[in-house]
Amino acid sequence: ADSLPESYTIRPLRKSDYARGFLDCLRVLTTVGEITEAEWNGRYDWMSTQGQGGYYMMVVDDGSRIVATGSLLVERKFIHHLGMVGHIEDIAVAKDQQGKKLGLKMIQALDFVAEQVGCYKTILDCSEINEGFYLKCGFKRAGLEMAHYY
Ligand code: ACO
Repeated sequence: ADSLPESYTIRPLRKSDYARGFLDCLRVLTTVGEITEAEWNGRYDWMSTQGQGGYYMMVVDDGSRIVATGSLLVERKFIHHLGMVGHIEDIAVAKDQQGKKLGLKMIQALDFVAEQVGCYKTILDCSEINEGFYLKCGFKRAGLEMAHYY
């Protein structure tokens, strides 16, 4: 249970993942919409330049397409002597690939990055149905999420 299935790799997101089904992988999570390659390139470039090293996006590639993804946002603060907080966002494992520990591996990879860059904690929001998954990943219930939709 310690390694990925044969031929699977976990690696940082690449611009060329547009053509490897990255957006389709995300569709298991929520609405993505139709994103053109130009729009993709624009957002990708923004994240890697103006994002100021705050975005870490990882994927699992099964050798032919993206089957899992997840993001870590590193928030720079003033409190805790310029502390940094990791925010895990948009974890998605392709429907036919769930239950193979890809989600767990993704969380472990993002958690490792957060610790390496110096975050003092990593937090995330999830629905009740995913609580068991995050408990197995070593997270604990903390606080209460609130939202204001526009
Ligand atoms: N409730 C309880 N336990 C769970 C759940 C769940 N919903 N999902 C997985 N687990 C358990 C597994 O049984 C496994 O336990 P085990 O070690 O005892 O065998 C352990 O958690 C690890 O499971 P994985 O195989 O790594 O889970 P998977 O690869 O299927 O990924 C995920 C889980 C990410 C929730 C996946 O089902 C998914 O993509 N769901 C749809 C999108 C989604 O809800 N994403 C999370 C949104 S929250 C956010 O992004 C911050």
